[in-house]
Amino acid sequence: MKAVGLFAGIGGFELGLHKAGIAALHLCEILPAARAVLRSRFPDADISDDVRSLPGIPGEADLLCAGFPCQDLSQAGRTRGLSGDQSALVLEVFRLLRGHRCRLPWVILENVPFMLQLHGGLAMRSIMDEFESLGYRWAYRVVDSYGFGVPQRRERVYFVASMDGNPEDVLLADDTPVPRPPTAIGERAHGFYWTEGFTGLGWAPDAVPTLKNGSTIGIPSPPAILMPDGRLIKPDIRDAERLQGFEPVNGIPWTIAAEEVARSSARWSLVGSAVTVPVAEWVGRRLETPGRFSAEGGTFPLTGRLPKAAWFDGRIRRAAYVGVDPLGVRTPPLADFLDYPGDPLSLKAATGFLERTRRAKLRFNPGFIQAVERYIASLGGLVPSVTTSYELPLVTTSM
Ligand SMILES: C[S@@+](CC[C@H](N)C(=O)[O-])C[C@H]1O[C@@H](n2cnc3c(N)ncnc32)[C@H](O)[C@@H]1O
Repeated sequence: MKAVGLFAGIGGFELGLHKAGIAALHLCEILPAARAVLRSRFPDADISDDVRSLPGIPGEADLLCAGFPCQDLSQAGRTRGLSGDQSALVLEVFRLLRGHRCRLPWVILENVPFMLQLHGGLAMRSIMDEFESLGYRWAYRVVDSYGFGVPQRRERVYFVASMDGNPEDVLLADDTPVPRPPTAIGERAHGFYWTEGFTGLGWAPDAVPTLKNGSTIGIPSPPAILMPDGRLIKPDIRDAERLQGFEPVNGIPWTIAAEEVARSSARWSLVGSAVTVPVAEWVGRRLETPGRFSAEGGTFPLTGRLPKAAWFDGRIRRAAYVGVDPLGVRTPPLADFLDYPGDPLSLKAATGFLERTRRAKLRFNPGFIQAVERYIASLGGLVPSVTTSYELPLVTTSM
């Protein structure tokens, strides 16, 4: 199979597909820093910049993949849905599919799972309508990168459409739940967003919370990690790449070429936007060798929140009862996974975070606030005087 990657970013989809034996023919990406990475990593692919000026899909392509912009579909974003100018770019996929001289066999899309809730799942329903009007069958599923061997909690919705194959046998056939570790401060590492602390935290035991795309002008937004020994660190960008499944090539980090055209901090945004490589690899392998989904599940309502997995058999849209871990790969402890020491969280950042938590209505895990206080004291800082008596024994909100 040969693939065309739209909104290719740093090529998470395409690297995963490549590992499954599917070559990238053409990559389209508007950001110069991301294109520099693509040029360095996919020297055999054609590369173009703006999907809106792409005249068509190359005739040899079997597959189109598109992790289209999520700014209008994410909880943290503008929530305008497909009427927002960024996420509406998915409509370019349909323009290209309609204009293609033969019927393209496979399409894969990826985006944030919040789109299943936003406006009653309107954007996802429009995507289903478009594919059905073009004669495709489809399946979609929310999948967490954590169950693919990387200690990152990252739920994303994957959507596969096919002209002739059975998308449900690609996306829904595998289901092997893996347990999520409980909080154990002092024993495991715990990821959270130090820039938050007031309305949310992104708390992730033995994992980092979803890496974010930060800002387009390259202000990095790495999470913090409370290490088992009490240090608070920000992970190294090279480990962030690995947390997305981008291993270094001959010792050279995947996104280093971005620094030819952008500030080094831009790499955080590129990595945070990417598709996790082993997830794309799993989809690619299942395209080549489909599994067998034993269909169970009823139809779902026409309005309201959509199920976490569903498929269309050519006649009826059905909910599917599968979890977020298709393969159930065992994930190593976060502290063991990290190859680099990371940067200590600064005293200013730690104190600012602690002050936000003092004003927050969140409930924190036992021992967490004391651990932050101890860290501040270890840096010689003054711990703000409010006591920790409000600290209640419960889980914090997650991303
Ligand atoms: C969610 S990211 C996709 C990341 C990619 N799947 C990866 O693994 O790195 C969406 C990408 O769409 C790109 N993009 C936005 N507008 C575009 C356009 N008009 N043409 C091409 N790419 C565009 C963004 O620069 C961004 O890299």
